[in-house]
Amino acid sequence: MDFQEVVERRRSVRGYGRKKVSKRIINRLILNAGKAPSACNRQPWKFFIVEDRSNMNKIVSALQDDLPSRTDEISKKSEIAQKLLQDFYQNLWNAPCVVFVYREITGDETTKFYDLLSIGCAVENLALSATNEGLGACMSGGFKGREVDEKLRKILNVPDNYELIIGITLGYVTDNFKPIKIKQKELKDILNYI
Ligand SMILES: Cc1cc2nc3c(=O)[nH]c(=O)nc-3n(C[C@H](O)[C@H](O)[C@H](O)COP(=O)(O)O)c2cc1C
Repeated sequence: MDFQEVVERRRSVRGYGRKKVSKRIINRLILNAGKAPSACNRQPWKFFIVEDRSNMNKIVSALQDDLPSRTDEISKKSEIAQKLLQDFYQNLWNAPCVVFVYREITGDETTKFYDLLSIGCAVENLALSATNEGLGACMSGGFKGREVDEKLRKILNVPDNYELIIGITLGYVTDNFKPIKIKQKELKDILNYI
């Protein structure tokens, strides 16, 4: 796919078909994520992949335990957003794969700001590579929650010196998938020539 087409086709996908994503493709996505620039070349990321049903169920159950703490926030969202969130908490949009991105905690937290930017670069590489492979992905802050982080750490067996930054659902897009309508800011609103 042409680079411009990849950039334009990448949309957050919140509904997946059952087809599994092969390890060969997952490895390629993670290799591309790891090629992102990072501050002082720290490469502060670590990726944990979940594909099996039993762990997916444990993750859904951890998210549902956290749901009461988010009811207020969710009730303020539009009807469409509420339905999408409901599906997320029910079955992770049927994603056959979830990538959890962790940051290595170094003890020198002055690096954190730049580490987060670096991880943002890696995650976008992953999302663009997914689009290029005909896959869909959605970054989800929804995986972070009061007690979810600790439950996820146990399920994924993550060492204490890593913190969860974001989870990304990943899979093949269903035939009837339509991305939700979003309004992109215009060039004049985001660009200043001085
Ligand atoms: C850091 C980050 C966190 C996000 N968290 C969520 C989330 O919790 N739930 C969700 O449905 N989408 C989430 N998204 C997706 C955004 O809603 C989406 O990128 C934005 O609306 C633009 O739409 P597009 O990705 O289709 O272009 C997140 C995106 C980013 C970059």
